[in-house]
Amino acid sequence: MAKNIDWANLGFGYIKTDYRYVSIFKDGAWDEGHITEDDMISLSECACVFQYAQTCFEGLKAYTTEDGRIVTFRPDLNGERMENSARRLSMPAFPKERFVKAVTEVVKANRDFVPPFGSGATLYIRPFMMGTNPVIGVKPATEYQFRIFTTPVGPYFKGGAKPITIRVSDFDRAAPHGTGNVKAGLNYAMSLYAITDAHEKGFDENMYLDAATRTHVEETGGANFIFVTKDNTIVTPKSNTILPSVTRRSLMHVAEHYLGLKVEERPVEFGEVADFAEAGLCGTAAVISPVGKINDHGKEICIPSGMEKMGPVLQKLYDTLTGIQMGRIEAPEGWIHEIC
Ligand code: PLP
Ligand code: COI
Repeated sequence: MAKNIDWANLGFGYIKTDYRYVSIFKDGAWDEGHITEDDMISLSECACVFQYAQTCFEGLKAYTTEDGRIVTFRPDLNGERMENSARRLSMPAFPKERFVKAVTEVVKANRDFVPPFGSGATLYIRPFMMGTNPVIGVKPATEYQFRIFTTPVGPYFKGGAKPITIRVSDFDRAAPHGTGNVKAGLNYAMSLYAITDAHEKGFDENMYLDAATRTHVEETGGANFIFVTKDNTIVTPKSNTILPSVTRRSLMHVAEHYLGLKVEERPVEFGEVADFAEAGLCGTAAVISPVGKINDHGKEICIPSGMEKMGPVLQKLYDTLTGIQMGRIEAPEGWIHEIC
């Protein structure tokens, strides 16, 4: 029985669901893992996660399709990216095949929390792992937990699909030694000051430029950029210091192979931004969130598609991607993973 939740009015927040997944790494091996109702974690004060922030996470979603199935979207790519994050942090990788199996188990256990088709909400899935044993000299832990919890969510930005206003950030996300919570090498803790400052000043997100030269567009705190030129080419920044977004990679394929658009993944100079016809943020949480205005130290860049609604090309991309995710449009081989 579906839970009695006001799906249509959910924001992007945490709601505790009934079950989560846990696997423990000890004596050089992961145990078989299990589903539990216990949402609490009790660890030593000296656990490596607290002292040296040895932790990383992933994010993906489960959807109810039009014909009532529950599916996830390309979970193998999240599993692969998490293996890379773990390696970068000297953590033992949780194998991507087991990752997909664990996602399947935990979503199935929480199936009553998967929002119904057409509600506008989805089940967000948050795999994460951390070093758990006491470590005081600077070195990796020898014991770990891999966990997955889920939470039903609505739109990431307040106002749903309305275009947002972002600002060019003066802060970088990199920390001197790469400490902090990490997804594929990105440091989220170091972006918390910047996002709070942006919100206080009335902006929805930060546009980060490359830290070395501040001339090229990178991404925002929680999503990649996607732009549309005046002649309908899709442009997305190429950089090895942004998160390799699963959504962005999928959208580039959809643009080219479903919509017949020209696509370019290349360095994007900040100076080009004023010439684009449409701009948006893309990610699991953001899906495609249109950007209407970019504030560059007081100077406003108004994207021609405006502040009322998503531009026509991004809307087509949005409809096609969500159509694939919700089973209305045939997916490329291997993109949809059926849970139940
Ligand atoms: N960039 C950042 C910094 C993110 O946190 C996310 C969210 O996961 C993304 C990009 C989008 O990645 P994906 O499409 O894999 O969710
Ligand atoms: C996601 O889209 O999965 C993210 O990780 C974005 C944000 C919630 C960190």
